[in-house]
Amino acid sequence: MTICTTQLIYFSPTRTMQRVLTGIAQGIDMSDVIHLDLTPPGVRDRTFEVGVETIALLGAPVYSGRLPAEAVTRLQQVHGNNAPAVIVVVYGNRAYEDALRELCDLAVEAGFRPIAAAAFIGEHSYATAAQPIAVGRPDMADLEKAVAFGQQVRANLGQLSSLPEIQVPGNMPYKERHPPPADPPAPITITDLCTLCGDCADVCPTAAITVGDNVITDAQSCITCCACTRACPTGARVMEDPRVRKTATWLYENHSERKEPEIFIAGVWFSSERYSTIKQMYIKY
Ligand SMILES: Cc1cc2nc3c(=O)[nH]c(=O)nc-3n(C[C@H](O)[C@H](O)[C@H](O)COP(=O)(O)O)c2cc1C
Ligand code: SF4
Ligand code: SF4
Repeated sequence: MTICTTQLIYFSPTRTMQRVLTGIAQGIDMSDVIHLDLTPPGVRDRTFEVGVETIALLGAPVYSGRLPAEAVTRLQQVHGNNAPAVIVVVYGNRAYEDALRELCDLAVEAGFRPIAAAAFIGEHSYATAAQPIAVGRPDMADLEKAVAFGQQVRANLGQLSSLPEIQVPGNMPYKERHPPPADPPAPITITDLCTLCGDCADVCPTAAITVGDNVITDAQSCITCCACTRACPTGARVMEDPRVRKTATWLYENHSERKEPEIFIAGVWFSSERYSTIKQMYIKY
């Protein structure tokens, strides 16, 4: 099989996942690159087929050590058609726990063939100027690693039939999901600062926001992804819920030390210290 297309398939409310997959796709360097963005609410009732001669990059963020439930239902609507797949999670510098394993398992169930996997770091959705957590990640160093990983994947495509099954960390059964509280947290809108531009509603992955004469948020639909607070051009949209801010303080105080991406390819675990080795190996190709 000659692979000539890279298809990026992702759920990425604050776009860190999208940026990492774009770096990996750059390293794979196929002539055709297609994005299947599963973030907008409009994809909820649709199914998708991956084409032939395609390598898929599947990506989702880590929420509480798992995949976001919204990402799971959307990814389940994609049929892999036995396409080789690179499985990637992005997490906010705390831990990815069972999420990478969950995404690998989900990919297999959907008919993909995982050939490589990775966990990258993205700016934490709850980060603010006062509580910076992995701010600016993925940064240049991360994206260089993403490109180098893509180059390694590309090199392995020549021996697709003999690649061993990849092994990734994670528990089975996965970490339990906590049921949402009766009064779930959600961002608020500071009316005096709001111009009713609608940018927040445009980026909301669950259609939780309605903008008319004012901004109405359906907190029951909110997944606290913070896409709306990032998108708001005037600073009117803020996540001030004390439960979220308490978590952010804890993350800032306990998980600020920089973590590095982890790569799993052809059954081998490469720590960040070995990236230079990967690069040197593949300069030969
Ligand atoms: C509800 C929620 C739960 C999260 N849980 C975790 C977690 O368990 N571990 C972690 O390191 N980061 C966690 N994060 C941070 C995200 O994984 C991180 O910000 C990621 O870069 C977001 O991806 P995106 O930009 O593609 O949306 C969480 C974020 C949210 C909104
Ligand atoms: S993006 Fe900000 S300014 Fe625009 S409608 Fe939403 S809250 Fe108001
Ligand atoms: S309302 Fe909630 S789900 Fe929608 S973008 Fe804002 S934080 Fe995300």
